[in-house]
Amino acid sequence: MGSIREKTVWITGASSGIGRALALQLAEQGNFVIASSRGREALAELQKVSPQRIRTLDCDVGNDENMALAAARLAEMTDQLDLVIACAGTCEYDDDLHLDSASYRRVFDANFFGVVNTLRVAMPLLANSAQPAFAAVGSLSSVVGMPRAEAYGASKAALGYFLDAVRADASHLPLRIVHIRPGFIDTPLTERNDFSMPFMMTPEQAAARIERGLARGHATIDFPRRLSWPLRLLGFLRPLWFRFCAPRITRIHSLRKP
Ligand SMILES: NC(=O)c1ccc[n+]([C@@H]2O[C@H](COP(=O)([O-])OP(=O)(O)OC[C@H]3O[C@@H](n4cnc5c(N)ncnc54)[C@H](OP(=O)(O)O)[C@@H]3O)[C@@H](O)[C@H]2O)c1
Repeated sequence: MGSIREKTVWITGASSGIGRALALQLAEQGNFVIASSRGREALAELQKVSPQRIRTLDCDVGNDENMALAAARLAEMTDQLDLVIACAGTCEYDDDLHLDSASYRRVFDANFFGVVNTLRVAMPLLANSAQPAFAAVGSLSSVVGMPRAEAYGASKAALGYFLDAVRADASHLPLRIVHIRPGFIDTPLTERNDFSMPFMMTPEQAAARIERGLARGHATIDFPRRLSWPLRLLGFLRPLWFRFCAPRITRIHSLRKP
């Protein structure tokens, strides 16, 4: 049983996968959870599990106008947020190096601008908490350049820099910034993957790891270690990755001609 209790928590991407598991776990531990995603029906189903502890706020984190409306509705629900977990995200692979900017924009809208928007909306409510924390879900895939993950990995790497910069700006303030980087988790997002995903975890296991890291005050929560440590090592030994590993997994065999 984790130790985050009696907090007011806003979780985006809470209708499925990691975000949903986090919402249920934190509600079960006695927190008041505001659960967000775009899909109202899935949120309503989630609320049924813990109607006393979960409220829902449908919003599109990548849409600035929609988030302005969400800010007003959020302020009607609570005047304080202790913890925000920006979990909403999407993945599109760039097969064959198409470099389709529309796809890259969709991915950045959800994974990067979605987090910027979430922090902007949450900031005035976090300011009313004695120990505010803002956590965002990146990915271990951003540690080294992964084939086909040009858009997804870049959005998560940009998120990492963004969080570090906010952490620097807020370093003298009580606001805690947390970067969560999971490995492979069995969710609708990874259902589409047609490659082997080592050390896959369930969303419930991921939620437990995240909750434990948050409760212990970690600034970065990487898991599972079996994957994060080798990847971090490869991050330092980048030439080895590009010379020996990447050529075995890329699906590109020649550059496209016009
Ligand atoms: N699964 C993995 O292996 C893995 C590994 C590393 C990192 N992650 C990250 O973990 C996070 C959660 O992923 P997941 O695996 O749990 O995927 P998931 O089951 O597909 O959940 C994604 C959630 O984000 C919501 N969402 C997507 N776009 C949104 C938008 N524009 N505005 C608001 N909500 C939006 C979805 O709901 P709606 O579609 O209803 O809006 C859903 O609730 C993502 O940031 C993902 O990149 C996942």
